[in-house]
Amino acid sequence: MKERLLELKEEALRKVEEAEDTKSLQDIRVSYLGKKGPITEMLRGMGKLSAEERPVIGQLANDVREEIANALDAKMKKLEDIALERRMAEETIDVTLPGRPVEVGGPHLLTSILEEIEDLFIGMGFEIKEGPEVETDYYNFEALNLPKGHPARDMQDSFYITEELLLRTHTSPVQARTMGAKDGSEPVKMICPGKVYRRDTDDATHSHQFTQVEGLLVDENVRMSDLKGVLNKFAKQMFGSDREIRLRPSFFPFTEPSVEMDISCKMCNGAGCSVCKGTGWIEILGAGMVHPNVLRMAGYDPETYSGFAFGMGPERIAMLKYGIDDIRHFYTNDIRFLKQYHKV
Ligand code: DAH
Repeated sequence: MKERLLELKEEALRKVEEAEDTKSLQDIRVSYLGKKGPITEMLRGMGKLSAEERPVIGQLANDVREEIANALDAKMKKLEDIALERRMAEETIDVTLPGRPVEVGGPHLLTSILEEIEDLFIGMGFEIKEGPEVETDYYNFEALNLPKGHPARDMQDSFYITEELLLRTHTSPVQARTMGAKDGSEPVKMICPGKVYRRDTDDATHSHQFTQVEGLLVDENVRMSDLKGVLNKFAKQMFGSDREIRLRPSFFPFTEPSVEMDISCKMCNGAGCSVCKGTGWIEILGAGMVHPNVLRMAGYDPETYSGFAFGMGPERIAMLKYGIDDIRHFYTNDIRFLKQYHKV
């Protein structure tokens, strides 16, 4: 038995010596020291030994086990050290490599266009106003001469929250809010940029959420020619001094008379092409003289005060200015699209 134990020890130590990876060490541990290993087996058969032999062999078996276990531990540590050293050598950082360039962002095209529009109107003496995106039915419709049941409400499919609350369908309620906050005699000269919402199905020209810029000027003796002058200046600054404008009669419940403004097509210079659908003109915005009912509801006497208002869609303006063919580009955040409009 003694010889067998010493033999096993030699055999195990040799295998440990030869082992090249931690997996083989595990296998050696299991096969020599495990519950089903030869040493455990032998210890089980110790009952057959004489009383003198038993402690001697028992002691030897324990020493052999310990020696194998120590050899396994030492080899394991050695292999781990080698692996660590190899990794350290392989993973050294080359500090001379050039760094990865950091991408520099820029404002979203819509932000830039909104700022450009704001700057143009600030230059003409307009103030910037804001209003809530969750709006009351009163401000979004009624105060704009669109009483409940008015057929023109259907022009703007709405997201209602309750019967009296909705996501504003246009920035026009800010007209009523701004006038209402004054005492009925102070002049108003403001624009209001902001988000609006409509229950539309998204496609190349529709988005359920988009932006508008509203404009309102109220004072004594405001005339349609004032509106035309302001819009003409805006169009030329935004699209180029060679653009012409024209006002076409239209209908909005909150203005009377109402107009739509077109600019001459840049592509064909008014001759007619596919962009302007052969007309030579491209529609830009809606406008008109503030309806007497709207003035009255906001506390202004239409006998003394008059005003003009307009509303435009910055997405449309950017699309025309930069030849963008799909409104969804503004909202899908494809960095390749957005990058083209970063000013350096
Ligand atoms: N609120 C209108 C819309 O969303 C746009 C508009 C038209 C605004 C004429 C105005 C205006 O202030 O005078 O379709």
